[in-house]
Amino acid sequence: MGRRDMMANPDPQSNTEKMSLRGGGGRGGVAARLVFILLMATFSVPAMAVSDPTETAALLAFKSAQIDPGGKLSAWNGNDPCGPPAWAGIYCEVDTTTKVSHVIEIRAMNYNLRGTLVPHLGNLTRLLRLNVINNGLTGQIPPALGKLGNLILFLVNNNELTGEIPPELGNLTSLIRFQIDVNRLSGSIPPQLGNLTRVNHLHMNNNSLSGAIPADLARLRNLNHLILDHNKVSGPLPEVLSTVPQLTIIQLDYNPINAGLPLSWTQIPSLIKLSLRNCSITGTAPELGAMSNLTFVDMSDNGLTGGLPSNISSKMITLAFSNNQLVGNVPPQYATLDAIQNLDLSNNKLNGSVPTFGTGASFNNDSQMVVIDLQNNLFTGWNVQTQEAVTRPNKKVWLTGNPSMCGSNGIIPAPTQLSVCQGSNSVLQQGVSYGSDAPKGTAVCPSSCEYPALLVEANNLTCWCATPITVQIRLKSPSFTYFDPGYLTYFQGLAARALSISTYQVRASNTTRTPGLFSQDITLLIFPPAKSASFNESAYDAVYLQFASWRVSAGEEWSFSIVGPYDFLDFFIATAGSSKKGLSTGAVVGIVVGAVALAAALAALFTFALLRRRSAYSRDPKQALPLLPPGVNIKGVKGFTFAELAKATDNFSSDHELGQGGYGKVYKGVLADGGLVAIKRAQEGSMQGATQFYTEIELLSRVHHRNLVQLLGFCNDRGEQMLVYEFMAGGTLRDHLTPTEIMDFGRRMHIALGTARGILYLHTEADPPIFHRDIKASNILLDERYNAKVADFGLSKLAPIPDLNGATPEHVSTIVKGTPGYLDPEYFLTQKLTDKTDVYSFGVVLLEIITGMFPIAYGKNIVREVNRAMEEGDIMSIADPQMGSNPSKQGLEPLLKLALACCQNESEARPSMVEIVRELEDIWRIIKPTLMSKVDSDTFSIDMEHLRGSHGQMQPSSSSFQDASYIMSDGKGDLRGSINPR
Ligand SMILES: *[C@@H]1O[C@H](CO)[C@@H](O)[C@H](O)[C@H]1NC(C)=O
Ligand SMILES: *[C@@H]1O[C@H](CO)[C@@H](O)[C@H](O)[C@H]1NC(C)=O
Ligand SMILES: *[C@@H]1O[C@H](CO)[C@@H](O)[C@H](O)[C@H]1NC(C)=O
Repeated sequence: MGRRDMMANPDPQSNTEKMSLRGGGGRGGVAARLVFILLMATFSVPAMAVSDPTETAALLAFKSAQIDPGGKLSAWNGNDPCGPPAWAGIYCEVDTTTKVSHVIEIRAMNYNLRGTLVPHLGNLTRLLRLNVINNGLTGQIPPALGKLGNLILFLVNNNELTGEIPPELGNLTSLIRFQIDVNRLSGSIPPQLGNLTRVNHLHMNNNSLSGAIPADLARLRNLNHLILDHNKVSGPLPEVLSTVPQLTIIQLDYNPINAGLPLSWTQIPSLIKLSLRNCSITGTAPELGAMSNLTFVDMSDNGLTGGLPSNISSKMITLAFSNNQLVGNVPPQYATLDAIQNLDLSNNKLNGSVPTFGTGASFNNDSQMVVIDLQNNLFTGWNVQTQEAVTRPNKKVWLTGNPSMCGSNGIIPAPTQLSVCQGSNSVLQQGVSYGSDAPKGTAVCPSSCEYPALLVEANNLTCWCATPITVQIRLKSPSFTYFDPGYLTYFQGLAARALSISTYQVRASNTTRTPGLFSQDITLLIFPPAKSASFNESAYDAVYLQFASWRVSAGEEWSFSIVGPYDFLDFFIATAGSSKKGLSTGAVVGIVVGAVALAAALAALFTFALLRRRSAYSRDPKQALPLLPPGVNIKGVKGFTFAELAKATDNFSSDHELGQGGYGKVYKGVLADGGLVAIKRAQEGSMQGATQFYTEIELLSRVHHRNLVQLLGFCNDRGEQMLVYEFMAGGTLRDHLTPTEIMDFGRRMHIALGTARGILYLHTEADPPIFHRDIKASNILLDERYNAKVADFGLSKLAPIPDLNGATPEHVSTIVKGTPGYLDPEYFLTQKLTDKTDVYSFGVVLLEIITGMFPIAYGKNIVREVNRAMEEGDIMSIADPQMGSNPSKQGLEPLLKLALACCQNESEARPSMVEIVRELEDIWRIIKPTLMSKVDSDTFSIDMEHLRGSHGQMQPSSSSFQDASYIMSDGKGDLRGSINPR
């Protein structure tokens, strides 16, 4: 995508011809021109090369196996993937002898592809780099990929791949990086992977891999990082792995190892990180003194016994042994560590006195966060110096749960108690986010600069407008626990050195700690050299390759010992037209992180995706296809361009208007294929941030129920946001409750039951659960057969989600929203939104269905009116006269009772949706026999067929997208509703 942005960026500087001529310069101009022409002649030969037909077929097979909502592969047509112009994401090399172009790279990162890796890809025998990071790819890894003998980078991480790792992948003997992490792979790790003798990185975390780690991996003489956390790998751990000469990271957290740590693993001199949190490791705590380069050890949540390791590397930054059975003292050496940021020894049986903290360098760096967590042990004392150290900025010692110190007769003086005896891990839960601003100075930047680039030269500051490359990386295994702002400068220098550019060209624009993931996201802006506005294409590709081939950290000691490996998240050009605001999103992102770490990581991605999207639009209207932010999982929902929807609605003509809601106008649209849809067009002021918009779409795309209006598509284009829904020919329920329309009791029951099932699904089956907040008769739509579908639900109405400790708040506090007459009085008073708020509104709808009255009319409130009638025993008088052959009291009475129960003032007294559906089904069963004899209307008889479970005759509603797999049944078994897979 980045490449596409690049090409859409008409920049005079990027012209190769100009560059070459300028290089020639002055008098030598003619000669240079000659050379240039010759060069061009040589270069033009490749342009006539043809693409390899087998490879073309393989790419087309891959394309045809994809759902491609972003249209990323739309240019993959014809027989010349290598071009020019090459297909998006395809990079080639010409074989000079045969003049055939061969594909050497597939770069389809963040393309939002949903499909499979086809075996045909195995025919791309010249392929060096396969990058399909962060898509929604499903299915298995085809064994045929083992034919890619030249492959250097195998990057299929962050997808939904299933099945086992094919042993054939052991044939990829050129690989230096093998990333299958964050998928759903299962089975054991094939010993054949031991044949990948050049591989530096094995990243297999976050899958369901099982079995023991094969000893064959010890044959990986070039292995640096073995990352296998969050799997189902069991013991024993292979002793021989310790013989790998350059092993620096072993990360196995969250696996049921259930075995001891081999002694040999404590003797790996090159090791920097040993992470085995929550692995059921048994035996005594290991001695670690033989590993002098260790900076990170986490063996928390295991079954370790004995004492703490007596001697640890002086470089230690993070050391965690919490939640074990450790006894004895804390060795005094621990208190002298210079780099320590996080020493977590909580929840053991350690005793003695707390050693004297405060002398180490990190304790004397005011900006550096240091946390010593000694909670829930048996410590009996500490000295004055430690007590003083606690008062320094960003330093914490926690001692809660040590009875002799913090107990009722605790020895800690009152003023200090407050800070050390109220232990908390809140610091760890918070995300921290930093951004470094452009250097301050007196240079005058052109006022229109989106991205001012600054050059400091001998006290002279120059400023010009430039278009930087944005690179997002995630440090997935850093040794630091707390990001020191001082690291930013370091990072800038590191990137500059790796890219061989000047430090003024690199700016860390944002860093976000995601504590739940123990990873750190960093966004770097890479600026073109002095006075240039942007990169030319080859410079852009060079920067890309530096990052995407992980050359950036090579040879850099600091990066090795602290930074650890990174995942490559995104790479794009944030062009002019994207607002400066985008740069200052750090603060916003930081706040989100505090709430939900994962969401924050996504938020950062969204933010930058937004920049990219805008830029694409402002550059080239033909490219107006929505670019989905990475991480957004939108299945079965189509992205529309503004033009498509304008066409569908005759330019949003008033003839097409269906109605107007709080969100904006709703239009009836006719798509190019003739399908009917309802299009909600957000008005000024209702527009959401891109993050929220896409998050909402993702959420809605996962909600499938026959009683919920289905989202079919969306549009986020030309500054407009629209949602495309299935069209409901029957209009709203409210439209049918008129004095001119007869609707019999059975049909009303059918609508009530459908509505209740739809709401029940939102409360109990949607993930996350959704509170609707605005249930009303005009939000219940009917298809041509009077099937009810609830409309207008979305993200703004999310039910509370469990916090990081797994506790679910019972309600969400919100600004009260809703429609008068339907509004839950308790919610109105307390602003506490619960599922019962929807129950109240549903009760009002039920009353409308029974009485035909409006919720509030002529100063009368429907709930009060019906209550009064019930008290007077006069229920038949309030039944809607338009019910045709009147229903029996036998059916009406329980229905009214149910409706009034829903409308109780106290939310506690109202039934839940499960109970409501069950009750409606019971009532239905009772009245059904009496109704059957009276059925005369044809549509209704079809309905009845349905309810008996015969769906053979059912025609889907008018929309061409409509899923025909209606599953209907009656009885209690249907409480879950049906989720129609798409
Ligand atoms: C390419 O690979 C596929 C599947 O592995 C195979 O069926 C096909 O015949 C291969 N060859 C060509 C020329 O497409
Ligand atoms: C690859 O490894 C397996 C198991 O370790 C071994 O049996 C096999 O012979 C190896 N294959 C090659 C081609 O080296
Ligand atoms: C420890 O780290 C230093 C500095 O990075 C390095 O030079 C040395 O080789 C490392 N020691 C081992 C045994 O790998």
